[in-house]
Amino acid sequence: MGASLWDGVSIGGLELRNRAVMPAMGTGYGSPQGHVTERLKAYHSLRAEGGVGLIITEVCAVHPTGKALAAELGIYDDTFIPGLRELATAIKGAGAAAAVQLHHSGRETLPSLIAEQPVGPSPVASRAMGQVPRELSVDEIRELILCYAASARRAREAGFDAVEVHGAHGYLVHQFISPYSNLRDDAYGGDDEGRFRFAREVVREIKKAAGDDFPLIFRFSSSEELKGGYDLEYILPLVEMLEEDGVDALHVSCGIYDSPGNPTSPGMHHPYGINVERAAAVKDAVEVPVIVAGKIHDPDFAEEVLQASKADLVAFGRQHLADPYFLAKAARGRHEDIRFCLSCNQGCIERLSFEMRSATCVINPLCGREQDLELRNTVSTGPFLVVGAGAAGLQTAITLKEAGAEVRIVEREEKAGGQLRAAARPPGKEPLAEWVDWAERRLRSLGQRIEFGIEADEKTIASEEWEGIVNACGAKPLIPALPGADLEINAEARQVLLGLTHTGKKVLVVGAGPVGMETAHYLIANGRGVTVVEEQEYPPLTPLTSHGYFLHRVLRKSGTLLLATKLLEVNGGGALVQARGEERQLEADTVVWAVGSIPETGLAEAAREAGIAALSVGDAVEPRRILEAVHEGYKAARQFLYGVEYKGKA
Ligand SMILES: Cc1cc2nc3c(=O)[nH]c(=O)nc-3n(C[C@H](O)[C@H](O)[C@H](O)COP(=O)(O)OP(=O)(O)OC[C@H]3O[C@@H](n4cnc5c(N)ncnc54)[C@H](O)[C@@H]3O)c2cc1C
Ligand SMILES: Cc1cc2nc3c(=O)[nH]c(=O)nc-3n(C[C@H](O)[C@H](O)[C@H](O)COP(=O)(O)O)c2cc1C
Ligand code: SF4
Repeated sequence: MGASLWDGVSIGGLELRNRAVMPAMGTGYGSPQGHVTERLKAYHSLRAEGGVGLIITEVCAVHPTGKALAAELGIYDDTFIPGLRELATAIKGAGAAAAVQLHHSGRETLPSLIAEQPVGPSPVASRAMGQVPRELSVDEIRELILCYAASARRAREAGFDAVEVHGAHGYLVHQFISPYSNLRDDAYGGDDEGRFRFAREVVREIKKAAGDDFPLIFRFSSSEELKGGYDLEYILPLVEMLEEDGVDALHVSCGIYDSPGNPTSPGMHHPYGINVERAAAVKDAVEVPVIVAGKIHDPDFAEEVLQASKADLVAFGRQHLADPYFLAKAARGRHEDIRFCLSCNQGCIERLSFEMRSATCVINPLCGREQDLELRNTVSTGPFLVVGAGAAGLQTAITLKEAGAEVRIVEREEKAGGQLRAAARPPGKEPLAEWVDWAERRLRSLGQRIEFGIEADEKTIASEEWEGIVNACGAKPLIPALPGADLEINAEARQVLLGLTHTGKKVLVVGAGPVGMETAHYLIANGRGVTVVEEQEYPPLTPLTSHGYFLHRVLRKSGTLLLATKLLEVNGGGALVQARGEERQLEADTVVWAVGSIPETGLAEAAREAGIAALSVGDAVEPRRILEAVHEGYKAARQFLYGVEYKGKA
C-alpha cells in the first residue's frame, strides 16, 4: 500500500507538508525585463495558501538566449535575486515549499524574443517554431552548463528550497537528450551516452555550485509521443544515471511542442493521468521520489495513484489555475465545491503560446487578478438583474452574490448553461456540463435561486428599481437566407447536439469552425456518415491546438472535410456546392448549420432606454468563447459593485 496525498514526504532532506505539487507553469506575469512583480507574488501566495506542499515556479531563464516568453523570469544575473527572494518569501510565508525551475529554451524560441538566432545542439528546426537554430560550440555548451549551475546558486541565495531542471517539453536540455533534435557526432551527441551528457553535466555542476544538500528535481518527458521521437525505454537509462549524479527527485511529464495534439498539457481528448503508467516504470527503476504530472485534476484520483504506489508525489498544474483552493476543499471533505479544470487549454497554455498574452483560466476570472481580492468599498449592492443563465450570466451572478449584493437572475429555458448544454455533448466535452453544475451549486450555496422559464422583457426591466442590469442573453444561431434554407432537411447544430432534432444517416455539416467540427464529431460518434463543407480555404479551427488537432484527426479518419467549398442551395437530396469554380451536388439526408450566431442585444438597449445602467457580456456582445463570457461576467459585476471600469472584452 502506498502513501496518502496528505502524508508528508522528503525530497533530498526538504520536508513537504503533503505530496501535492504545483508544477512550473509560465504565466507572463513577470516584468518585461524578467523581474518578479506584485501580480506574480499575489498569484503564487494564493496557491500556497490553498494547501499545496511544493510550488515550482515557472520557467526562469538561465541565460538571456533562453527566454521562450516575452516576460519570462530571469535568473541569469544577480540582479534578479532580490525579486526572487520576495517570491520565495511570499510562497513560503503562505505555507508551501518553493523551488525555481531552471530553463533554457534552445531552439524553442523566436529571434524577436531574444534578439538573436536561437541556439540548439544541431541546426534542426522544430516544427512548432520553424526556426533553424545555430549549432552550439563545445565551449558554448560548457558555458551554458555553468549558467545552470550559477542560477541554482542564485536560487539558493534567494531563499528557495530547491531547484528543478527543465529537461522536458523539447527545451534545450531535452533537445540534447533527444535523437530527434540532437544530430551531433561529438562528445555531446553521437550515441545515447553522448546525448545524455549535457543533462548529466548540468546536474553535477548544479550540485557543485549550489551544494550537495540543495535539493534538485529533474523534469523530463517520459515519451516524446511523436513519430521518430524517443519512448520510455530510451529514457529509463538516463533516469538511472541522473540518480547516480545526485538528483533528489524525478518529475515525469511527456511530449514536446512538435508532438501532435500537444500532450505536454493534455487536452480534453487525452486520458486522465496520461503519464501515470510511465511514472510507475520510473519509480520501479529508481530510489528517489517520483513526481507524476499530466491531467490529474481530482485529489481522489491522485490518492488512487499514490495508494497504488505508481508515484510518490502528484503534480496538479492547471487545477491550481482553475481553483487555487481545491486541495483545502478536498482536505475538508468538500469535494463538491471544487471547480475542476476543463483541460481546454484555451485560457492558459494556448493563450500564452498562441495569443502571446499572459495566462489565465477560462473558468477562474480571478486567475492573474489575485490583487482584486484586496478589499474595495462597494459603490452599490443592488438590486441587480442578470438576464440569462449561460456561462456569462452564471459568473456575473456568482461575483455579485459573493460580494453580498442583491441579485435576481432569470433564464427563459428550464435549465442553466445556455450554449454549454450543447457544447458539452460531443465526446470528451463533458467537463463543460460539470462546470455548469458547479456554478449552480455555487449559487445555491450563496443562497441564490435561478428563476427558470422566465423570458425577461420590458416588464421585467420596469418591475423594480434596478441599480444595474446585465444582459447575458448570449447569441442565437444564424441560418443564412439561402435557397432551400426553409426545407425540412435543414437542422441547426445546437438542436442536433441536444437531441432535439434528429438527423438522417448521411449528414452535411455546414461550417468547419469549432461548432461545426464538434457537431461532426458527435454525429460520427453516433454512427452518421458526415461531410463538413467550409467556404474558407483554411480551416477556421486550427489543428495546432490540442482540441483542433483531435477534431481534424477524427474528420480525416472517419469523415470528409471539404475546404474552399461554398454552399449554393439546399435541395431535397442534399445541397448544391461550388468548389474551385465547379458546381456539384452533395447527397445528404440532413444539412446541419454551424455558421455562426447573432448576439442578443435587445435587452441592454431596452434597459438603457428605460434609463437603467446596463452592460452586455459574453456572446451578447459578440459571439466568442467561454473565456470571454465568464471574464466579462466577472468584470461587469465588479463594475457595478465597485465602479471599476469595464471595457467590454476580456
Ligand atoms: C456546440 C458548441 C460548442 C462550443 N464549444 C466551446 C468550447 O469548447 N469552448 C469555448 O470556449 N466555447 C465554446 N462554445 C461557445 C460558448 O459556448 C459560448 O461562447 C458561451 O457559452 C456563451 O455564453 P453566454 O452566457 O454569453 O451565452 P449563452 O450560452 O448563449 O447563454 C445565454 C442564455 O440567456 C438565455 N436568454 C436569452 N434571452 C433571454 C431572455 N430574454 N430572458 C431570459 N433568458 C434569456 C438563453 O436561454 C441562454 O441560456 C461552443 C458553442 C457551441 C454552440
Ligand atoms: C499555462 C501553462 C504554462 C506552463 N509552463 C510550464 C513551464 O514553465 N515549465 C514546465 O515544465 N511546464 C510547463 N507547463 C506544463 C505543466 O507544468 C504541466 O506539466 C501540464 O500542464 C500538465 O499538468 P496538468 O494537467 O496538471 O496541468 C505549463 C502548462 C501550462 C498550462
Ligand atoms: S483555461 Fe482551461 S485548461 Fe487552462 S486551467 Fe482553465 S479550465 Fe484548465
